[in-house]
Amino acid sequence: MLRTHTCGQLKKSDVGSEATLCGWVHRRRDHGGLIFVDLRDRYGFTQIVFDPKDKALFTEAEHIRPEWVLQVKGTVTARLEGAERDDNPTGGIELRVSTVKVLNQAKTPPFEIDQDKEVGEELRLEYRYLDLRRDRMRKNMITRHRMVQSIRKFFYDREFLEIETPILIKGTPEGSREYLVPSRLYHGQFYVLPQSPQQLKQLTMVAGLDRYMQIARCFRDEDQRGDRQPEFTQVDIEMSFMEPNDIMELTEQCLQELTKQIRPDVRILTSPFPRLTYTEAMERYGSDKPDIRFSLEFTDVSELCKGCGFGVFSKAVEVGGVVKVMVVSNGATMSRKEIDDLTETAKIYGAKGLAWIKVSEKGYEGVPVDKLGKECTELIVQAVKAKQGDMLLFTADNFSTACISLGAVRTAIAAKRNLADPAVFAYCWVTDFPMFEKDTATGAVAAVHHPFTRPKDEDLALLDADPLRARAVAYDIVLNGSEIGGGSVRIHEADLQSKIFSILRITPEDAERRFGHLLRAFQYGAPPHGGIAWGVDRMVMLFCNEPNIREVIAYPKDQKAKDLMLGSPSPMPEEQIAELGIKIIEETA
Ligand code: AMO
Repeated sequence: MLRTHTCGQLKKSDVGSEATLCGWVHRRRDHGGLIFVDLRDRYGFTQIVFDPKDKALFTEAEHIRPEWVLQVKGTVTARLEGAERDDNPTGGIELRVSTVKVLNQAKTPPFEIDQDKEVGEELRLEYRYLDLRRDRMRKNMITRHRMVQSIRKFFYDREFLEIETPILIKGTPEGSREYLVPSRLYHGQFYVLPQSPQQLKQLTMVAGLDRYMQIARCFRDEDQRGDRQPEFTQVDIEMSFMEPNDIMELTEQCLQELTKQIRPDVRILTSPFPRLTYTEAMERYGSDKPDIRFSLEFTDVSELCKGCGFGVFSKAVEVGGVVKVMVVSNGATMSRKEIDDLTETAKIYGAKGLAWIKVSEKGYEGVPVDKLGKECTELIVQAVKAKQGDMLLFTADNFSTACISLGAVRTAIAAKRNLADPAVFAYCWVTDFPMFEKDTATGAVAAVHHPFTRPKDEDLALLDADPLRARAVAYDIVLNGSEIGGGSVRIHEADLQSKIFSILRITPEDAERRFGHLLRAFQYGAPPHGGIAWGVDRMVMLFCNEPNIREVIAYPKDQKAKDLMLGSPSPMPEEQIAELGIKIIEETA
């Protein structure tokens, strides 16, 4: 090695010894006739000192600039009293330089590496290798590594086999658009990048390998958000002869251990993690991934509003809908503008409006009060146990719109009022999702999870009678309002699988073309099986307390799915395109 120690290694016990360090010039200070340089590498910083007594050396030091790469040799010396730094493991010593070799010079970086200043994300992504030199990113990469390493060990210790599944596959539906790779050998034919290894892990169970895990790269061509990337990483798990509880307990145990190890400063809100059914989560929080660090729970006041004088409420109930209310404690101080903003939020999620009642010393205030009448208003206020100074917010609509829109209002209020304690990790399970949902645009029936999810035994009869009411043996794990994982027990019988395909309007021919391998495999002794996948990027994002997953991915795509550093996607040479038998249709502006 070109060094004897790293820049984070030397301590007071090394004083008097000779050491050679390599690293980057983090900061240079000229002070009291001496030149001080903080030499940086992945492991930390060491202060190196150039003394003017050695003229040639000092002149060389005067030329040194930030981000140059140096090799320095010198004597480890104790720092003067008062110059020691407790916040740096090498803060008790400095290296008095005897020789320096410039291993490489550096241009002035496009942003400062030594400071945690806001830098435009485009620039950071274009020069990601410089961005990764910064403290925050270096820490995030190390945390990510530690988390993945712990997860691997957790599963290795429990007899899980790590099995790699291919990237060039045939599509596996997870609800997103797929990335295609044209075949050079078979013109007009395509490989599909996996949205997840779902079918392959199931086939691995048919293969009898019993416990599978993989840190799997997945690809989904979907609109970008703060918690989504076109390529992302899952901890993918599958087990044979399992019951949902086995997966849930494993997940819970691993997450508990990870939290203790990586975030000893946070408190886990509830252990074992609370389990809510999908319906309960929607009823109480208006979300299938509720943040339960704060309460703001809903009450259903449909019964009280049946036939009441406020048409918006009574009509909603009349046509089978609901009236949902949330109490914001001390919310009566909310300004008109705040209420208007919250109303806009509710409308984005389909609500026609957001009714409100303030409980003040003057009595009740708000549009519905006069129409509801004192008695009905009082009954509602009592039902939700509201106190003076509280605010009641209502949505009245079909169940899903009323819950989801009030859920969005709940999230907005919590953000505005800082209701979520950052020192708390609130995990919870959401179970018993519906098997199917109706696409609002096309009216087509689609799988809520994926088409391999098992219906609950007690709902099998509903598959014929009323499939939209059938529930799945599916579970999502949620942390602080983010879905960090999802899984299910799978179908392992060809007949049942075919039936689900038919409900999804996949013809037998289409099923054979797309999933023939699975249907065939199920005829060769497929064991009952199930599993889960955790979103690694989302987990690391939450553990690192970062606002988006790009901060915890070494080389992410930007919000428009571009790799700004590599400049991808990019046009390809014509010969290469021709080889694939593809013709490009130029986009017209
Ligand atoms: P699902 O589609 O719910 O399930 O994905 C599992 C978890 O992966 C994460 N995730 C993402 N993270 C970043 N960017 C994305 N675009 C993205 N999409 C999903 C989420 C999510 O909870 N095959 C099933 C799992 C199973 O049934 O075992 C699956 O992929 O954290």
